[in-house]
Amino acid sequence: MIKLQHVSKTFSVGKNKIEALKDVSVEVNRGEIFGVIGYSGAGKSTLIRCVNLLERPTSGKVFVDGVDIQSLNKKDLLKLRRKIGMIFQGYNLLETANVYDNVAIPLKLEGISGDEIKARTEKYLEIVGLKDRSKAYPSQLSGGQKQRVAIARALAHEPEVLLSDEATSALDPNTTDSILELLLKVNRELGITIFLITHELDVIQRICDRVAVMDKGRIVETGSVVDVFTRPTEAMTKQFVHDEARFRIPPTIFKDLIATGKLVNLTFIGESAKDPALATMAKRYDVLPSIIAGGIDQLKDQSIGNLLVHIKGDQGKVDEAIHFLKSRQIVVEEVSE
Ligand SMILES: Nc1ncnc2c1ncn2[C@@H]1O[C@H](COP(=O)(O)OP(=O)(O)OP(=O)(O)O)[C@@H](O)[C@H]1O
Ligand SMILES: [Mg+2]
Repeated sequence: MIKLQHVSKTFSVGKNKIEALKDVSVEVNRGEIFGVIGYSGAGKSTLIRCVNLLERPTSGKVFVDGVDIQSLNKKDLLKLRRKIGMIFQGYNLLETANVYDNVAIPLKLEGISGDEIKARTEKYLEIVGLKDRSKAYPSQLSGGQKQRVAIARALAHEPEVLLSDEATSALDPNTTDSILELLLKVNRELGITIFLITHELDVIQRICDRVAVMDKGRIVETGSVVDVFTRPTEAMTKQFVHDEARFRIPPTIFKDLIATGKLVNLTFIGESAKDPALATMAKRYDVLPSIIAGGIDQLKDQSIGNLLVHIKGDQGKVDEAIHFLKSRQIVVEEVSE
């Protein structure tokens, strides 16, 4: 559906050159929710803006539905942009127009007939749950409601793809959840492909099928959300996972645990959660496991359990026990610092 091939983008600011994108290749399949995660300045917005040519790559190609979009003339590019909706962190609503008109006015500018405008505006305000607020002005709405208007406005053009540039970054956790639910519904019920960028791991975990991790203009890792976040291979991905998803243990307690045994982080995915591996291990190797911390992350289609376990016992037995855990369907990571 969307394919970026070897895309680079260099900005010139006075004499300085900023390489915002360096040889980025990424492919988003029709019907999926694809997320790009990275810290501030990684080049995420620049990347997503290349998809509708709000930003033109310095080199490389961008294909949408197999069409090399940099070869399109102005008219065809406008047509193509109608297939691609976009939402932003800052909503970009018309402050002087009410909710209904925020959705209807862009349709009017596109030359759509009056009846169709009414039908679509009502339909999409209903879908985002704001039909009863159509007379309200943006200043009378909460952040979450404003983002719902922006989503309705994007959907009213009946796009095939929705691009989202940090759409939930300005919202509190509960409102973020409700907007993510709405994006899931848009993807499932309307079949719209979603390409989003974010710096929040939670957004990726909750709704994305696949993810790319970006660092300093490059994509360093790509894969299914489950794979990338349970078996991160790149330092940047590990940093995201450890920053946000793992347990923090007070240093004095940590020191004590390391001195008296081994600490392992266990990740259980899907069926492996039902495997009584810890009990079996304790029995078979005569070691004493204690659970120090635990939690469950809900991904789009499955849950992942995390346990931080302290294993005490004869040194050789403890090593054998850890080896045993590694032989099960569990991701085992020894924690030593
Ligand atoms: N129009 C521009 N002119 C000059 N430099 C730019 C321009 N747009 C982006 N940059 C630079 O390109 C780099 C990547 O910026 P970009 O906005 O894509 O990052 P980002 O990952 O979206 O960051 P954030 O999470 O803060 O939004 C930054 O160093 C930024 O200063
Ligand atoms: Mg950005």
